[in-house]
Amino acid sequence: MKNKLLLSLTFSFILLYAGCKKMETDNSNYSNEPILPASPYNYTNSSNDNLATLGRVLFYDKKLSLNNSVSCGSCHKQIKAFADDKQFSVGLKDSVTRRNSPPVALHSASLFWDGRAANFHDLALMPLVNHVEMMNYDISRLVDKIQNTSYYPDLFVKAFGNSNVSIDHVQTAIAEFLGNFNFFNNKYVQSWGGNITLTQMELLGKSLFYGKAKCGNCHSGNTFSGWENGGECIGLDDEYTDNGIGERTHNTADNAKFRVPTLLNIEYTAPYMHDGRFNTLEEVVEHYNSGIHNHPNLSWALQNTSSLDNLTEQQALLLLDLNHDGIISTDEMPAPVAVKLNLNNTEKKALVAFLKALSDPSVFTDVRFNDPFVKR
Ligand code: HEC
Ligand code: HEC
Repeated sequence: MKNKLLLSLTFSFILLYAGCKKMETDNSNYSNEPILPASPYNYTNSSNDNLATLGRVLFYDKKLSLNNSVSCGSCHKQIKAFADDKQFSVGLKDSVTRRNSPPVALHSASLFWDGRAANFHDLALMPLVNHVEMMNYDISRLVDKIQNTSYYPDLFVKAFGNSNVSIDHVQTAIAEFLGNFNFFNNKYVQSWGGNITLTQMELLGKSLFYGKAKCGNCHSGNTFSGWENGGECIGLDDEYTDNGIGERTHNTADNAKFRVPTLLNIEYTAPYMHDGRFNTLEEVVEHYNSGIHNHPNLSWALQNTSSLDNLTEQQALLLLDLNHDGIISTDEMPAPVAVKLNLNNTEKKALVAFLKALSDPSVFTDVRFNDPFVKR
């Protein structure tokens, strides 16, 4: 009995040793401390570069997860334009996220697929405590851990003037860093100055985007996203397993609505949609062209409204205002019928070409955003 125990103990030590050995070799280009420039990089949207630098270190520090295995950068990868190429991302202990990891990027819509965070400061806490992502059930233990990590006191002094770690300061620093992810030096923007001209296909794509295909109705402004608190249903299914904003507000009229994501760098951030169901931009375009389902909450811009288009307000009231109260209430509206864009092959290719003109390849190489724990 005793021998057996000894044997199994020895065996587990061998396993443990082998495990550590493996980790050592896997992590040979990893540094235990962040490798930082002598004077901080210049962060364009930051008045305190030391604060953004602290945010960068926190963003890439695996110590911020319960078992030191996952950092923000594990799911928001610079080589994937700060998104993930997996449909669902792997968090702690092989658990997977419920939604596709969107890119970290500046845009005008609320944050997360269901828009539940209003700003980066509020957002930063959420992955830290999320049961899949970083699992810090007890935030005070995380704060102690950061406080007791050799390189942080100095970084906190530089950023805040004192070495006291608080969760608010952690959020503030991460938010400061996130506020600089503005990668919009793309071909389309450059064409405004006249230094670059778009190809015929890109130009056709642009006119479809803002015209017949109506993409610009929802993906608007310089970041091609929606607006704060906005949400739209694009009819991915007849019935959604993930009801997005509706799950959050418990209002069935919000079911299947998601915030309108940015299209900047969209070429790099496949797979697409909240559930990562589409692998290519061609599939996305085909969805809008012919694949939209008649979901009861389908957005107006994606409905075939030809039966109502030519009616005057008076005629519409006569047709639809069944209870004659002078307004057409939601339950008096006809059930939505999805639009069919009937794009030809050239038009579909043109839309994809325009989407690819929204790419800024500097997202992959900008050293201000790379992992400071990697030896280069
Ligand atoms: C295990 C993978 C994982 C980790 C770790 C992770 N995230 Fe995320 N992140 C996601 C997923 C998935 C979403 C979308 C969740 C949703 O919408 O419900 C998301 C959403 C976001 C968004 C919103 C983007 C947008 O435009 O809506 C930001 C910003 C973000 N994460 C930053 C961070 C930061 C900062 C950390 C570290 C503190 C972090 N993430 C850690 C997977 C991860
Ligand atoms: C009614 C508003 C609306 C219109 C019109 C619209 N979109 Fe979208 N788009 C959305 C919403 C909302 C999502 C996210 C849906 C989801 O994940 O359930 C989305 C997602 C996308 C995505 C995936 C983004 C990502 O990060 O995964 C792409 C690409 C896209 N749209 C391109 C287009 C193109 C091209 C058109 C025109 C053919 C278009 N959209 C028209 C609202 C719209």
